[in-house]
Amino acid sequence: RARWWGRVPGVNFEPVAPNHRDDLVVPTGYTQGVVIRWGDPVVPGAPRFDFDNQTAEAQAQQFGFNNDFCGLVPVPGSWNRWLMVSNHEYTSEEFMFRGWDKNNPTEEQTRIAWAAHGQSVVLVERDWRTGRLEAKVDGRYNRRITLLTPFEVRGPAAGSQYLKTSADPTGKRILGTQNNCAGGVTPWGTILSGEENVNQYFANVDKVTDPTARARLDRYGFPKGASTRKWERFDKRWDLAQEPNEANRFGWVVEIDPLDPQSTPVKHTALGRFKHEGANVIIARDNRVVAYMGDDERFEYMYKFVSDEKYKPGQSKHAREHNKRLLDSGTLYVARFTGDSPAGEIDGSGKLPSDGEFDGRGEWIPLAHNDKSFVPGMTAEEVYVFTRFAADKVGATKMDRPEDVEPNLRTRRIYAALTNNTRRGAAGQAGPDEPNPRNNNKHGHVLEIEEDRGDNTGTRFCWKLLLVCGDPQSPDTYFGGYDKSQVSPISCPDNVAFDDYGNLWISTDGNALGSNDGLFAVPLEGGERGHVKQFLTVPRGAETCGPVITDQFVLVSVQHPGEVDGASADNPISHWPDGGTSQPRPAVVAVWKKNRGTIGN
Ligand code: FEO
Ligand code: CA
Ligand code: CA
Ligand code: CA
Repeated sequence: RARWWGRVPGVNFEPVAPNHRDDLVVPTGYTQGVVIRWGDPVVPGAPRFDFDNQTAEAQAQQFGFNNDFCGLVPVPGSWNRWLMVSNHEYTSEEFMFRGWDKNNPTEEQTRIAWAAHGQSVVLVERDWRTGRLEAKVDGRYNRRITLLTPFEVRGPAAGSQYLKTSADPTGKRILGTQNNCAGGVTPWGTILSGEENVNQYFANVDKVTDPTARARLDRYGFPKGASTRKWERFDKRWDLAQEPNEANRFGWVVEIDPLDPQSTPVKHTALGRFKHEGANVIIARDNRVVAYMGDDERFEYMYKFVSDEKYKPGQSKHAREHNKRLLDSGTLYVARFTGDSPAGEIDGSGKLPSDGEFDGRGEWIPLAHNDKSFVPGMTAEEVYVFTRFAADKVGATKMDRPEDVEPNLRTRRIYAALTNNTRRGAAGQAGPDEPNPRNNNKHGHVLEIEEDRGDNTGTRFCWKLLLVCGDPQSPDTYFGGYDKSQVSPISCPDNVAFDDYGNLWISTDGNALGSNDGLFAVPLEGGERGHVKQFLTVPRGAETCGPVITDQFVLVSVQHPGEVDGASADNPISHWPDGGTSQPRPAVVAVWKKNRGTIGN
């Protein structure tokens, strides 16, 4: 076997070696270009970026901060234009403002942060001569969603008593989306996005006097005292003492239709409320749709939603309007896993059990269907708004931080990135089990699910671990049974994607092996299964997110470049992507082959 040369289409490239460079490093024969970066104009008339004179008004028209998920929807009738939707997960004020005083944010800085959150819709066009992907300031489609954009609440908890506030007595209209982490492109051409660590934006849980409300807020980690960003000083909705229900209006999956710029984005209560990483949809064999989801926190759960109604094929207005209602009604499930290895062999060491695999059976446990709850002692409304309690009650399996959970559309198998969990096996915490077999799990693992009979709407499945990440030379790692001397080291899998051939691509967040984060490709079938190869690395301090793999180019989000301890706008340690003495700027980058050939071939 040639050392660097897999035999599977789509993954033939020379792996990039681990490094600490302040650069985006791609394989030999490939080149790259920034598509758009923080502060670049999105809508017509947007001012040029001016780091030292930023305003909220400008930011609301420019690309937001810390782009995470990235999704492409083809522009109808065009072969080289797409609508690119990016999530702006969070702000890092110390990198946005010189002389940042965390104890005394100004109102303008706060309003800039509100505008830097949310999402961007940007028309991108591929220049067939150069291969470059260019962002266009397009007047028809381009759009910014911020923390002030109205959202419509849909599904069984729309109008719930738990969603009503003094600003919205209907419980059906919410301003903004926040901490949008990963997401997915639906078969009907919309974008789903997960509201993840929404707790951090709120203040004063200790002043909530109702003990039931307080316990619910505690289960979701809402903080005592002032919030990190002190937004509660400028809008009381961030103060739980004054508006305890505002917290319940975040933590949902949101849907945006980039092809309809006038449409109101939606919060989908039927998909439950937790720290949503993202949601990815597959059309089941009977044409109902199934969304797979992770709750990204240590010892949290994996979920799926099965729609009641069936998908209508095609992009006609009638079909799209029907499909955009599919996530309004259905059944929400949570996953329980069982291992099959002999008792005592899963000891937390991460060493393979004697049956040669970390594997077993699993079950999707129903939590609620519209107005019917399946959880004793909880109403359906409570199941949807306080979903973590429902999953606790039915004995779901506590996982090592479920990030992306995504179906492979070619095989119908589902892949989950379990990014890490250094508390596994710690005093007072859950110990190892076969799906989470390693104590102090610094490097994470990747789990594969195969639903019985390939029926994504079903309730029983088989599972196995594809990867137990880390240093391949270490005995506590596993690479799908592949020869570990041939693979790239990988740590902290976060986002997953598939190429047209069905190979899995994995981006990492927080490489615990010490070198920069990256993007990796791994075949899933045949003799090359488990042969992990690094396709690129991102600059110092950055996380790799939102990969999109097409035949012609790869897109990655470079989130928080230069974000390392001690660095700030006054002391930047990264100058990517503008170089010189510039401030680092989160950006989307396209990578393509210099000879314009197909990726990985
Ligand atoms: Fe925002 Fe779970 O990463
Ligand atoms: Ca086993
Ligand atoms: Ca993530
Ligand atoms: Ca992440």
